Amino acid sequence: MTTTLLTNISTLVTNDPALGPTPLGLIEDAAVVIENDTIAWVGRSADAPAADTTHDANARAAIPGFVDSHSHLVFAGDRTQEFNARMSGQAYKAGGIRTTVAATRAATDAELGANVARYIGEALRQGTTTFETKSGYGLTVEDEARALRIAAEHTDEVTYLGAHIVAPEYADDPAAYVELVTGEMLDACAPYARWVDVFCEKGAFDGDQARAILLAGKAKGLIPRVHANQLSYGPGVQLAVELDAASADHCTHLTDADVDALASGNTVATLLPGAEFSTRAQWPDARRLLDAGVTVALSTDCNPGSSFTSSMPFCVALAVRDMGMTPDEAVWAATAGGAAALRRTDVGRIAPGARADLALLDAPSHVHLAYRPGVPLISDVWRQGIKCR
Ligand code: NIG
Ligand code: FE
Repeated sequence: MTTTLLTNISTLVTNDPALGPTPLGLIEDAAVVIENDTIAWVGRSADAPAADTTHDANARAAIPGFVDSHSHLVFAGDRTQEFNARMSGQAYKAGGIRTTVAATRAATDAELGANVARYIGEALRQGTTTFETKSGYGLTVEDEARALRIAAEHTDEVTYLGAHIVAPEYADDPAAYVELVTGEMLDACAPYARWVDVFCEKGAFDGDQARAILLAGKAKGLIPRVHANQLSYGPGVQLAVELDAASADHCTHLTDADVDALASGNTVATLLPGAEFSTRAQWPDARRLLDAGVTVALSTDCNPGSSFTSSMPFCVALAVRDMGMTPDEAVWAATAGGAAALRRTDVGRIAPGARADLALLDAPSHVHLAYRPGVPLISDVWRQGIKCR
């Protein structure tokens, strides 16, 4: 057994209201004791027990490691031109996904694995200690299964997204593709995945197709999550709630009935401001969701097309500046909210028994994540008790 005392933390975000005021459970002049891979003690520096080693936070703030509950990291290729064209006035269309599908199919396992490792490393340096990632750029039985196998080498939070778009080979027969996604492809993919996802959108899958895909995944033991209401109004959000999906992701175009549905169920609304930033689209209205009592998570949606950022601090800053969230709400959503979207209770909080995942900020308060946008504030990161930055 090894213990580490982290002391002299100016403001500690615990996300445990039993430990301090506000939903963030804030503790001033705080200390944390890590025992192996777990948080063993949390309190005031003055009351801290002795430990094997001591790390002085030098009056910096500490937060739980970010929980990035939505990313698409198993891909190859480059879509700089598409981004450039979009920033010159062209609209975002889901069809750009095909470019990445072609490049991903042509890549070796080693290339895909190296790409995943690269973006996870990038995210870790920015404080992300838990992340989910998806397939969806293979769209054949073999390519989807290999994407999930590679993803599973890097995280437990793996999502089967064979229903990202209809595979190009099936463009004239989408029903046959849905049959593949719910049959042979699902059989090959389910062993590597915890979640099943579908892009429920015009140009991708409609409500009936999405329902069939999510129910087939459920029957195989996968838990649904849904790309819902990103580019237009549609059935995705209400379908997610109906099927008790862990999360409805994007939630950019919502009717009052969609908001009511989210407020009445267990489905987290995961907002992905990097996508609206990178497609110059309308921002999701986080304030409206929070005021209705919906649980909100923030995530990067890191992918080469619509949101090529791995930075949770960037998403926090956007959510505060443009989506009506307070800094406290945004930091909660990027940590505890992400944990809720992944149905995890061991991450997203700094409290006895939780996994020892935390980040020190080069700042006296978590508010600086929004106050100092674009500044690399993450100075130290512990993941499962191991200091990795
Ligand atoms: O979450 N919405 C669908 N999928 C991605 C975009 C993927 C891409 O453009 O490559 C998203 O934004
Ligand atoms: Fe996505």
